[in-house]
Amino acid sequence: MYNVVRIFFYIVYLLSYLATPFAYILRRTGKSYYDRIIKLCYDLFSRFYDAFTLNLPNYSKIPKIIIGLANPSKNDYVLDVACGTGILSIPMAIRSCWVVGLDISQGQLGQLKYKVDLLNISLIQGDAENLPFRNGVFNISISSGALSEIMNKDIVIKEMYRVLRRNGRIVIMTFNREQIPFYPWAYNRKELIKILRETGLKKIRVRGIEPFYLIVKAGK
Ligand SMILES: C[S@@+](CC[C@H](N)C(=O)[O-])C[C@H]1O[C@@H](n2cnc3c(N)ncnc32)[C@H](O)[C@@H]1O
Repeated sequence: MYNVVRIFFYIVYLLSYLATPFAYILRRTGKSYYDRIIKLCYDLFSRFYDAFTLNLPNYSKIPKIIIGLANPSKNDYVLDVACGTGILSIPMAIRSCWVVGLDISQGQLGQLKYKVDLLNISLIQGDAENLPFRNGVFNISISSGALSEIMNKDIVIKEMYRVLRRNGRIVIMTFNREQIPFYPWAYNRKELIKILRETGLKKIRVRGIEPFYLIVKAGK
């Protein structure tokens, strides 16, 4: 039964490629309209999000790897940008002092809230391109699977850098264009490293996870 569910979600995932031309057109309509549609899609999809995402090939390994690289301690303040339903925020909260989860979709945040009763998670509905925080407040800033969907990923990385304390670290998971060449918003390693360097990040390490993920760690 488990395998049937898995195959079903894998087919749904492959079919989602069909949405690529639609997403391309949507991007050309401008940020305000684009964000509204993305938010609406996630609000509608949020109840099924975990079942879909956790059945993507090897996705269940991602939180463990990100947490390993971010290496949170009980003194750390963590920001999870575009946190969705908390696949990453929840295990992060267990290992850190405080986690702030920010997402544009109320539906996604609602699912996160429904799942946990942790006292050390705050949820904020907001735009990753305009983080509502002062400079230098977080020890760790993470984002998983979201960068490819946000209109201006360079601005998101700059914002994640701005809110980071000195010696803080950033860990980002995104999709690897070398593995999925037709997906226009995936990245290749060089591109990603260039954006991170230009932002001012140092000690950049990139790791590929089969079949199509890229995880990058960098420091301020
Ligand atoms: C593929 S999901 C990833 C969620 C989560 N990080 C995970 O690992 O499951 C992408 C998330 O990005 C959010 N999102 C899209 N555009 C956003 C924006 N401009 N600002 C904040 N969140 C955004 C969506 O609502 C969605 O929850």
